[in-house]
Amino acid sequence: MKALEAQQLSKTYRKAKAPALDSLDLEIESGQIFTMLGRNGAGKTTFLRIASTQLLPTSGSVTVLGLDAVKEAKELRRRIAIAPQEAETIYPLTPRDHVLLSLRMRGVEKHEADRRAKLALEDLELAEVADTNSDWLSGGLKQRVIVAMVVRTDADLVFLDEPTIGLDPVNRRKVWEQLTRLKKAGKTIVLTTHYMDEAEALSDNLVIINKGKVMAAGTPQSVKAAVTNRSTRVDVMDRFSKSELAEYGHVVAIAGKLRVLTDADGARRLGDEAVARNATIAIAPVTLDDVFVDIVGEAEKDEDDAD
Ligand SMILES: Nc1ncnc2c1ncn2[C@@H]1O[C@H](COP(=O)(O)OP(=O)(O)OP(=O)(O)O)[C@@H](O)[C@H]1O
Ligand SMILES: [Mg+2]
Repeated sequence: MKALEAQQLSKTYRKAKAPALDSLDLEIESGQIFTMLGRNGAGKTTFLRIASTQLLPTSGSVTVLGLDAVKEAKELRRRIAIAPQEAETIYPLTPRDHVLLSLRMRGVEKHEADRRAKLALEDLELAEVADTNSDWLSGGLKQRVIVAMVVRTDADLVFLDEPTIGLDPVNRRKVWEQLTRLKKAGKTIVLTTHYMDEAEALSDNLVIINKGKVMAAGTPQSVKAAVTNRSTRVDVMDRFSKSELAEYGHVVAIAGKLRVLTDADGARRLGDEAVARNATIAIAPVTLDDVFVDIVGEAEKDEDDAD
């Protein structure tokens, strides 16, 4: 069953030159973790805001949990939860107040809300600071309060816009655990992130969007496999010039080394040549990070060429 379907969804902000969403088509299966990737300004937040009924599209439609996000917004709001990007904690409320407020506003009765708030605060390791003025919390703690506000609701679908931004690696994994727990409970999770390892670790399906359009969609594996002529990366530390490497594949300069995205055959040929030259190289399968830069970077290059 589909948890979300967007058809030809477009949004042009007032006075904007280009659309933030450009005839976007998208499907999200129920019970999955779905991730949206894209550069700053790609349209991720715009999409989340429209799908969560906070913003009207210019044209097209989006159906969430079988409800039209424009015409049935009121009913839909009860069934979704959202942790927005750049949400801020409110002075002088405590983390517990925030979580309680979020639950009570959704109609959870007092006793049950108290019980769930305690769980949510434990989930995100906020128990120790639960009754501290939120203004005194560090940035990462504040971010965890925002996430804690949605992890124990009854929502069938939860939108999280960069939920792990600014979190240390340990706390990032705490958020991952919560998302996985929600998924096990049958909920659908729609996530945005700039961390490719996170997208790879968590997502059942993902999309890469650029300038409001879908550039690639599928499982992390299939998105990586879609660029079959660049399945392998070879990092070359020395003894090759950029132009020499171009014959083996697509060359990207990365902090003091040259990375060649190529296929198995290219990697083998380059490997042989590196042995002959006594050069230092490292061969590995491409990561989602490589694919992202490749797909989004290529799109920009094509446009530059067109100018
Ligand atoms: N309220 C607004 N008014 C006008 N333009 C806007 C508004 N909000 C966003 N935009 C523009 O719409 C485009 C998409 O922005 P959006 O916030 O959806 O991107 P994003 O993918 O979430 O980026 P980021 O990764 O930086 O959060 C950008 O060009 C942005 O400048
Ligand atoms: Mg955003």
